[in-house]
Amino acid sequence: MPVTVITHETAATEVFSQGPLGYNRAMQIDEPHHPLTPYDLAGGEPAVRKLVNRFYDLMDEDPDYYGIRKLHPATLDGSREKLFKFLMGWLGGPPLYEQEFGHPRLRARHLPFAIASNERDQWMTCMTRAMADVGLDEKLRNRLVQSFFQTADWMRNTEG
Ligand code: HEM
Repeated sequence: MPVTVITHETAATEVFSQGPLGYNRAMQIDEPHHPLTPYDLAGGEPAVRKLVNRFYDLMDEDPDYYGIRKLHPATLDGSREKLFKFLMGWLGGPPLYEQEFGHPRLRARHLPFAIASNERDQWMTCMTRAMADVGLDEKLRNRLVQSFFQTADWMRNTEG
């Protein structure tokens, strides 16, 4: 049985960046149209776009998320584009983010922002609502909540 040993931050980031089901890149290259990826189940590119837009619309409009909204730039256009590209690959679709920006190094890229449990929970609530609002299948949503939580929790870099 293969054992994953996390030796340093980059290795751990890699593990959590693989996405739902620990989806692995080698498998994706061999089977670019694997029928059971969350990407396919969600409805492909238009569904990922819709999800990201709903997520940032909610973050922009609902004061409940002001704590994380204020960490973002005044205009969310760039954030939308980056999260869209990242989630495309993370869910099992084309790895657009990696193609453009290289390894995600998500934890390192979030270090400039103070993220404690509160910020993590706002992010999760916002994403969980967005997934429901765009009508993702309930089973898929429950699966993605687990994966998103692992990644969001790993992003914490501040006590509290
Ligand atoms: C835990 C709470 C989180 C907070 C408070 C947070 C906040 C932020 C902020 C402020 C940015 C910069 C936005 C910009 O430059 O336009 C960012 C970028 C980003 N976030 Fe998060 N984030 C969180 C969790 C996550 C999670 C769970 C994911 C993925 C599932 C994610 C994916 C990304 C990506 C891909 C970027 C773009 C990185 C880059 O290329 O600079 N974030 N995030």
